[in-house]
Amino acid sequence: MSLAKTRKINPRQLATEVVAKLDVSEICEPVEIAGAGFLNFRLKPVALAQTLAAAARGEHLFFEKAASPKTSVIDFSSPNVAKPMHVGHIRSTILGDCLARTLRLLGHRVITDNHIGDWGTQFGMLLLGWKQHLKPDALQADPIGEMERLYKLINATGEAMETVRDAARQELVKLQGGDEENLKIWREMIALSEKQFDEIYSRLGVKFDHTFGESYYNPRLKPLVDELVVKGIARESEGALAIFFEDTPQLKEHPTLIRKSDGGFNYTTTDLATLEYRLKTWHPDEIIYVTDGRQQLHFQQVFAAFRKWQNADPELRTPNSELKLAHVWFGSILGEDGKPFKTRSGETVKLADLLDEAEERALKIVSEKNPDLPETQRREIARVIGLGAVKYADLLPNRQSDYVFSWDKMLALQGNTAPYLQYAYTRIRSIFRKAEGTFNIQHSTFNIQLAAPEEIALAKHLLNFGLTLEAVAEEYRPNFLCNYLFELAGKFTSFYENCPVLKAEPTMRGSRLAMCDLTAQVLKKGLETLGIETVEQM
Ligand code: ARG
Repeated sequence: MSLAKTRKINPRQLATEVVAKLDVSEICEPVEIAGAGFLNFRLKPVALAQTLAAAARGEHLFFEKAASPKTSVIDFSSPNVAKPMHVGHIRSTILGDCLARTLRLLGHRVITDNHIGDWGTQFGMLLLGWKQHLKPDALQADPIGEMERLYKLINATGEAMETVRDAARQELVKLQGGDEENLKIWREMIALSEKQFDEIYSRLGVKFDHTFGESYYNPRLKPLVDELVVKGIARESEGALAIFFEDTPQLKEHPTLIRKSDGGFNYTTTDLATLEYRLKTWHPDEIIYVTDGRQQLHFQQVFAAFRKWQNADPELRTPNSELKLAHVWFGSILGEDGKPFKTRSGETVKLADLLDEAEERALKIVSEKNPDLPETQRREIARVIGLGAVKYADLLPNRQSDYVFSWDKMLALQGNTAPYLQYAYTRIRSIFRKAEGTFNIQHSTFNIQLAAPEEIALAKHLLNFGLTLEAVAEEYRPNFLCNYLFELAGKFTSFYENCPVLKAEPTMRGSRLAMCDLTAQVLKKGLETLGIETVEQM
């Protein structure tokens, strides 16, 4: 209809012309023109059956690899050194990982970079605390806890005492000036933090190609700032250097500093250096930043500053397509009282504790349902369910809205949850355990036959897997995949209730077992793309 509008002709007439030149008879019933100019396509069941048969032969799983793969850099998780990873970092980690998995599945080249916060003014206080108050035993037992204690201690005394603030500043200056002792302590703080981050990442099944961190770009900051001044992009403002965005209406009132009046560089300066490095090193088509919504202004400024720089510097231009810069932001996690999610004593929730609790709660449920399973098996199932529930609860809401963290809801076996989908998967697997004789989708002989409406509905939904994955990659919205899988499980249930499988007559039985198998494969692959594991039995 929009085409008819631009051509200034009647949509129905345009529809008639389109239909006259359209040959889809192999896959569709005759195309009908309806209403104001709609075209109704009805897939022929044989065409559906052919696509399913090809999937059954293992030729595809309802998606295609991208015809022209692109290179995407994904900057996600990015916690700060010497601080515990808290529940706020979970969304970035889980969303970013899911986007990486989706793009990879579609055949794109993906580079993941954990941009950890390993530089900044907090190190002045940390160094001072380390030198004056470090408890080696505590450091050994819980490194991040001890570093956090030191930071809080100096921060609190510094508030009251000018001398402490000064001493911390001195330590920072020494670190920045390359003092050996301070550098050594700083490196140790990073190593200890990374060790703890890695434990969480391995629990979550998240991997990074690189963890350069902010400090990696330090040597580039001064020359970069000089260059921006020479190119007329940055200018002096009250003793500091700033970039102004006069021609961008929403940023007019929001210049960004790239050098403070004390000579220190900013978060923005580092991000510009990082962008330049990524562009020149990996030649990406897009760079995706996954952080919470409070950083929106920051990234608008970084992107706008970079565009100015690109205009002034041919070396930063991308010959084939414009570099896409995407800030994929998300809302907060709220407690059941609607306020930011905290522990009962009012502290931020540490990620490790949260994952422990998820597994414990899942273990209770699993043990109630299957008291006879051996404990190791129950624990393994609980691990998969607990982690899956937390991840899914994070991926399911529209990422830009806040969501309420509720253990009962996310662990429920009914409703749009990971356990429900994992359970749907095990139910299908159990059909195969009950099927007498061995059915093997790639080796058994059968013809896909689609007759019952529930069967056709399931087949069509399977076909939508690829479109869903593409939409996730295009709009950076894993919730599309969650909802797709939830609907798939629902469509499978109606199919299974209405179409006998094991009791069907032999020709139908093979076809329906194949439908079961394909549904299980898509469920498993879909969950895997969300970063969620499956088990054979729950
Ligand atoms: N470390 C930052 C934080 O915890 C996130 C960094 C995001 N990435 C970036 N390139 N700025 O808020």
